[in-house]
Amino acid sequence: MRTVSHSGARGRNGPVTVAALIEQNARRLRRAGVFFGHGTDNARDEAAALVLHALALAHDAPRLYDRRVDAPGQRRVHELITRRIEARIPAAYLIGQTWFAGLPFYVDARVLIPRSPIAELIERGFAPWLDPRALRRVLDVGTGSGCIAIACAKALPRARVDALDISADALQVAARNVRRHRLQRRVRLLQSDHFSALGTERYDLIVANPPYVGAREYAALPPEYRHEPRLALASGRAGLDSVRVLLAQARAHLRPGGALIVEVGYTEAAVRRAFGPLPFLWLQFERGGGGVFLLTAEQLPSAGEARSRPVARGVHSRHQRAARRA
Ligand SMILES: C[S@@+](CC[C@H](N)C(=O)[O-])C[C@H]1O[C@@H](n2cnc3c(N)ncnc32)[C@H](O)[C@@H]1O
Repeated sequence: MRTVSHSGARGRNGPVTVAALIEQNARRLRRAGVFFGHGTDNARDEAAALVLHALALAHDAPRLYDRRVDAPGQRRVHELITRRIEARIPAAYLIGQTWFAGLPFYVDARVLIPRSPIAELIERGFAPWLDPRALRRVLDVGTGSGCIAIACAKALPRARVDALDISADALQVAARNVRRHRLQRRVRLLQSDHFSALGTERYDLIVANPPYVGAREYAALPPEYRHEPRLALASGRAGLDSVRVLLAQARAHLRPGGALIVEVGYTEAAVRRAFGPLPFLWLQFERGGGGVFLLTAEQLPSAGEARSRPVARGVHSRHQRAARRA
């Protein structure tokens, strides 16, 4: 009987190992020139994730890589990798899952695939920039899959988190993830255009990974991005529409001493140019990534209020002074 070889072509090979299938399919992905950056950044990790998914194998299954895969298994792998290559569907959508801040999230094409460097801040409870003990009320603007809100609730067990999105589709995915992580009592989902549905709610921390891709950049994105909601990426001609609303309205929803943290990625230079007088603190990341700023309530535009216990620690002020000098 002819079986499917681990290269995916019909051949005379018998069963092959999981390790060989991963290597062969990593080569296929490299040759096809697919774009990595939706959860993995290299062909081997992406091939491994897809191969294990196609074979319904857990990452921690015993003797995983030495297992032999029969012809039907090889065919399933071949078909899945072919979809990845031909339709340029990001692996996370094919698998229906990705990881963020060490937590698993269900994802489909209704939401952006989580990849924000803000994960690193959340895992540290926002220290040393903020005092985690003072973060009792958190708002996630543009929650998508709910990843930032849910990771915040896990990292800050005493916090209550509101998570809003303009997209009803995205909120359905977020609701599924909130249930999966059993956080219905501490994570509240709201449909809202930015802050419009919030009334007078105020928070210690507002965190956002808003859409920030400009029109020209959006047109030039690799095809994988076309599978993500346009609403999650594009934000006007210069990519600044959503950031502008956040900067103008966040203060009204922050408690005195609260903070706004926003990812703007490579739009950082445009943000600096457009909103130059604001004293942005651009945060540093050990695991890579950047383009994330922090502003305290008092640094944001609009009328101020009486100061209370600030959530920003002394170390923040120190970094802020250093950043201003730079
Ligand atoms: C870049 S995605 C971020 C998703 C998620 N927070 C993450 O980090 O993976 C931006 C999200 O903002 C939402 N969004 C876009 N415009 C919005 C608006 N005017 N008001 C609220 N949410 C909006 C999109 O639907 C999308 O889910």
